[in-house]
Amino acid sequence: MRYLLTGSSGLLGSTFLTMSNHEVTCLSRAELDAGQGDRLPGIVAGHRPDAVINCAAHVQADQAEDDPAPAREANVQLPGRLAGICRDLQIPLVHFSSTGCYGNWKDGPYTEDDPLRPTTVHHTTKMEGERIVRETNADHLILRTGWLFGGRPEHKRNFVWQRLLEAADRATLTSDADQHGCPTLTDDVVAQTHHLLANGVRGTFNCVSAGAASRFDYVAKIVELFELPCRVVPGPAFARRAPVSPNETAVNHRLGSIGMDRMPDWVSALTRYRNEVCNWAEWKHLAGARGGSR
Ligand SMILES: NC(=O)c1ccc[n+]([C@@H]2O[C@H](COP(=O)([O-])OP(=O)(O)OC[C@H]3O[C@@H](n4cnc5c(N)ncnc54)[C@H](OP(=O)(O)O)[C@@H]3O)[C@@H](O)[C@H]2O)c1
Repeated sequence: MRYLLTGSSGLLGSTFLTMSNHEVTCLSRAELDAGQGDRLPGIVAGHRPDAVINCAAHVQADQAEDDPAPAREANVQLPGRLAGICRDLQIPLVHFSSTGCYGNWKDGPYTEDDPLRPTTVHHTTKMEGERIVRETNADHLILRTGWLFGGRPEHKRNFVWQRLLEAADRATLTSDADQHGCPTLTDDVVAQTHHLLANGVRGTFNCVSAGAASRFDYVAKIVELFELPCRVVPGPAFARRAPVSPNETAVNHRLGSIGMDRMPDWVSALTRYRNEVCNWAEWKHLAGARGGSR
């Protein structure tokens, strides 16, 4: 299979690059920008892909509250254009959405049967991006994920690495016990995506690790697994402009119903990632300075 990948510099896109047994070509941001006019269909067709994997997204939820236009461009217009191109080329589009789109109206985890009632501009654009992909009638696979972790230290959205840097520098870390989600390893999303593509599965699915955690549980588990001498205590929510739902938890109900759910529980995923990080020179340097596990 030959995949054409957008968003390859990001957390998820970079994992598609490093973890694929297939031929993956990157569609650069410059090519996507240059293709704003009529050139994008020719650029995509020129790569002769068997499928397009769209990991490009505007993810700055706070910024989107003040200035929705860039979020709409990346999260609605871009997937809409890609879906139209994929439909015309008769190839599938893989597109990623967010379990945050469900909003804040349920106590337990959301399933795909639940309506989307997003509470932020960011999640509204993600919901509209899903809709435009479906309405374009492209052959599509939409995966709603959340609380992604993975990648390398240079990824600014590497949640685990950022917490390690903080924990290495402080005696106490405070983390929100009221915000809940499903910490999900990018490697697992990539493996799940390949499995679905290989089996010709299409549609809209939740795609998160099993089990839910509060931010506090998650950060405490990171510090515990890396054996850092730092205390994690429940504390106030991180102040943000975007009214992100305190419940972004979900279950992979549809994947389970077709016997295709390969997502592990979040603690075992985090443990696997910890084993990878422990081999990094950056971690060895940090642990040497602060006394974490090596
Ligand atoms: N991370 C999470 O916790 C999470 C949660 C739920 C859903 N998701 C979804 O998962 C997917 C991947 O997210 P991620 O965490 O990998 O995001 P990320 O690390 O922020 O990467 C986003 C990628 O999109 C590119 N991009 C941004 N704006 C663009 C534009 N206007 N045109 C073209 N490319 C653009 C970025 O390029 P530059 O490097 O040039 O900025 C980067 O390569 C997204 O659909 C996201 O909504 C992520």
